[in-house]
Amino acid sequence: MMSEITVAAPATIANLVCGFDVMGLAINEPCDTFTVKLSNAKGISLKHTDGFNLPTDNAKNISAVALQALLDACPDVNGFEVVCHKVIKPGSGIGSSASSAAGVVVAANYLLNQRFDKKALVDFALAGEYIASGARHADNIAPCIYGGITLIRSHKPLDIIALTPPPLAVTVLHPQIEVRTADARKILKPHVSMQQAITQWANVGALVAGILQSNYELMGRALQDVIVEPMRKILIPQFDTVKDACMQAGAIGGGISGAGPAMFMLSKTEKEAKQIELAMQHVYNKTDIAYRTHVTSINMNGVRVISNT
Ligand code: HSE
Repeated sequence: MMSEITVAAPATIANLVCGFDVMGLAINEPCDTFTVKLSNAKGISLKHTDGFNLPTDNAKNISAVALQALLDACPDVNGFEVVCHKVIKPGSGIGSSASSAAGVVVAANYLLNQRFDKKALVDFALAGEYIASGARHADNIAPCIYGGITLIRSHKPLDIIALTPPPLAVTVLHPQIEVRTADARKILKPHVSMQQAITQWANVGALVAGILQSNYELMGRALQDVIVEPMRKILIPQFDTVKDACMQAGAIGGGISGAGPAMFMLSKTEKEAKQIELAMQHVYNKTDIAYRTHVTSINMNGVRVISNT
């Protein structure tokens, strides 16, 4: 039986513009790594090797809370030792908390001989996501675990639909400012008009159809958000200028990544994705805001094993 495992958990892009809290995709870069061992000691012992100063109190640490949810379902298991090496900056909008939650539960499940299915792992990881954002939304966790693009039809009970996307390049702009998901959720008005709802569900349906039909033009038309983006874009400096420049550079579409401040753009090829990256850099070089960009692609596998013994 395997006693130690190291996994890579990918960054994810939640919402996919029109699908607030229900759609998300996994990307190949960046990834966090987690080493998890079965332990004879009771409970969870967790260390971080990164410099993000994440909470060391298990009750406040996303990985520990998610793993505890799994441990609570395993009366025959004493505990786990975990070493987290995070690269995805917390508060970036590319699923740092989801990676923390999903990576450790997937790793632990390998040590337990795949005792749980993917949906059960999402459910455990949601306990961790809840302490990060104050909500049990699975739109980062599901793609982190399943890979590709996922649609959450229902959170209670969980109903996750894994969609196989056509090849897509992804360009990410990450302004080095922090937007806490919980804060980006507090600014949202709790009610939408019937007209906004009609536009939004038409776009979500069209986006799913575009993905399944490999119809890039339809996907582009569907990547419109009349509800959340207008309220949240004020948190992202130069949002409209970046978006316009990326569309002119050949993006299919894109917008805020998760709760921001990261932005993402989809394109058909890596060559286009690099043009879009240049367009992002061109806009941000005129500001005094530090930023990073990534050109990557869709991660079709979700959390993957790097090594085991
Ligand atoms: N759907 C969530 C939100 C994702 O937009 O608040 C946060 O990571």
